[in-house]
Amino acid sequence: MSMDLGTDTSAVDVKSATPTLEARGLVKTFGHVVGLAGVDLQLYPGEVLAIIGDNGAGKSTLIGCLSGALAPDEGEILVDGVRVDFKSPLDARRAGIETVFQNLAVAPALDIASNLYLGRETRRKGLLGRLLRLLDARGMRDDARQHLQALGIATIQDMSQKVETLSGGQRQAVAVARAARFGSKVIILDEPTAALGVRESGQVLHLIKQLRSRQLPVILVSHNMPQVFEVADRIFIQRLGRCAGVITPRSHSMEEAVAIMTGAVPGGQVAEGPTVNGQNQ
Ligand SMILES: Nc1ncnc2c1ncn2[C@@H]1O[C@H](COP(=O)(O)OP(=O)(O)O)[C@@H](O)[C@H]1O
Ligand SMILES: [Mg+2]
Repeated sequence: MSMDLGTDTSAVDVKSATPTLEARGLVKTFGHVVGLAGVDLQLYPGEVLAIIGDNGAGKSTLIGCLSGALAPDEGEILVDGVRVDFKSPLDARRAGIETVFQNLAVAPALDIASNLYLGRETRRKGLLGRLLRLLDARGMRDDARQHLQALGIATIQDMSQKVETLSGGQRQAVAVARAARFGSKVIILDEPTAALGVRESGQVLHLIKQLRSRQLPVILVSHNMPQVFEVADRIFIQRLGRCAGVITPRSHSMEEAVAIMTGAVPGGQVAEGPTVNGQNQ
């Protein structure tokens, strides 16, 4: 083998750890089109796992299955080693898995605090909340401010500012912050920097590092190789509905990653399914 796939295990002791999120043998077809042709994936505690792959490789389908948006035809998903059966993204969220889909799910006309709490509003204490259903607007604003500060999002000051008045990067930061506020186990980000400039992308990458430092594992779908190589602990390469290998920024160069992604490296040299510490699962 000219390329050693998936043997660099970075900071995570993958041999002993139970994956926080795991997929086994996921298959998903759309009529005759194969989205996933049997995919295994492990996300370990405290790691940033990037998913790269060409258009149509099955990245979004994979994210869809992991986040409860799509039901796989075959295979299973496990959270902390326990099999789960997500019927909807809400099921996944209840299990602590928050996803920021590519088409940002923020409400532009609402302010930042309202966006953070969308669907999870807290009510005033006592009768005001119970009978009159009054929202605890101040409590949510205070919490939003503390949460954004804790994540190091310094450029957003006013929690009552409407999201439509924010820059693209700030909006993305709000979406990621929202996921981080409620995602207790896993944060999944689909192309979070695709529409952003360099400086704003830097802020989102910083945010991802913050999440990792809180031990929250992150799945990052991205086309941007420099960003992937900057932030990922491991890189999962999806190709033609399968995993073409799992590498790390230390074990492989960007050119090698692209070669595996595009199939320029002959299939025989590429691990079928993920190898972690040389163990095929
Ligand atoms: N809802 C769908 N209906 C039909 N085909 C789909 C659907 N979603 C995805 N596909 C197909 O599945 C394959 C994988 O798509 P996708 O997961 O979106 O790839 P990626 O996100 O890597 O670009 C593609 O061939 C795509 O056309
Ligand atoms: Mg996609």
